[in-house]
Amino acid sequence: MNKIAYSAFIAFVASLATLVSISALSSSEHDTTGGENLEPITLEQLAEHDSADSCWKAIHGRVYDITGYVPDHPTDEEVILEWCGREASEGWDNKRPGVPHSPRAQERLERYLIGRLVDEEGEPVETSATAPVATDFRSDTGTAQASLPPAEDERLARAMLGLPLDGHYRGVFTDRGSIQVNVTFDLREGRIHSLEYRHLSYRGVDYLALEESDERYPVMLQYRQIAERFEGEPITRIFALYQPERVVDDIDGYSGATLRGAKVISAIRDALNRGVYAWP
Ligand code: HEM
Repeated sequence: MNKIAYSAFIAFVASLATLVSISALSSSEHDTTGGENLEPITLEQLAEHDSADSCWKAIHGRVYDITGYVPDHPTDEEVILEWCGREASEGWDNKRPGVPHSPRAQERLERYLIGRLVDEEGEPVETSATAPVATDFRSDTGTAQASLPPAEDERLARAMLGLPLDGHYRGVFTDRGSIQVNVTFDLREGRIHSLEYRHLSYRGVDYLALEESDERYPVMLQYRQIAERFEGEPITRIFALYQPERVVDDIDGYSGATLRGAKVISAIRDALNRGVYAWP
């Protein structure tokens, strides 16, 4: 192998090794269970180191003494000092709302590791991944800039991705000028709740007003079953209604084929297209 090719090979191997070690570090980022050998540190002890003279931070169950790093942090000092002496995972995971620090920063952080966070009984303090901070006053220069509260951020992001937002929905299936299916439901975290029919009719017959003795009454029961069986189901499950016999029982010999599951899908999709009717 000539010299240039050999150097290129060594550089390649070295960069691979760096990548592997960085990913190993980032995967340990949320590890709160390991590190038994680390010095146990309580919230009380942590709280004593809350200034530029001595700045300790607990991040995902581990404690770091970052006093020496504060002047080097690429923002105004107050941004990072604000989190000294306390549980700082929220700040770490949200250097900007929803944006965590880079693997490079994680690598840097590990240099300052001094212990693990424990409660008064010496048990590890669990910290899960945190939601974006409620208000963020950082800008490029690290100074005042208000941002949307997290709920609004989330709504905006979901809307931009075309994902349905949580809320109360209403929608209809109409054929030849008359409404046949009118539904209402709530969507919570992408799941259907409280699906109800505000109107259900076919060829002039109001199914919601049918007497039990009516021969079509079992079909109405099947529609009701749909509503019950979708309680808490992900919205994507509605497509099962293309084969309603998978969803409803064969009541009194009425097969799923009698039921037009596609009308319910259509009404639900109409509701989603219209958007949130009322916020939760
Ligand atoms: C926990 C409180 C902390 C907050 C609120 C915070 C906030 C920020 C902000 C606002 C930036 C600049 C904006 C940006 O790059 O997008 C930044 C960048 C950075 N911070 Fe922090 N920081 C914190 C803790 C730390 C700690 C403890 C370290 C390392 C010991 C660190 C290392 C870095 C590095 C290396 C960057 C450059 C960008 C990156 O690699 O992600 N930060 N931080």
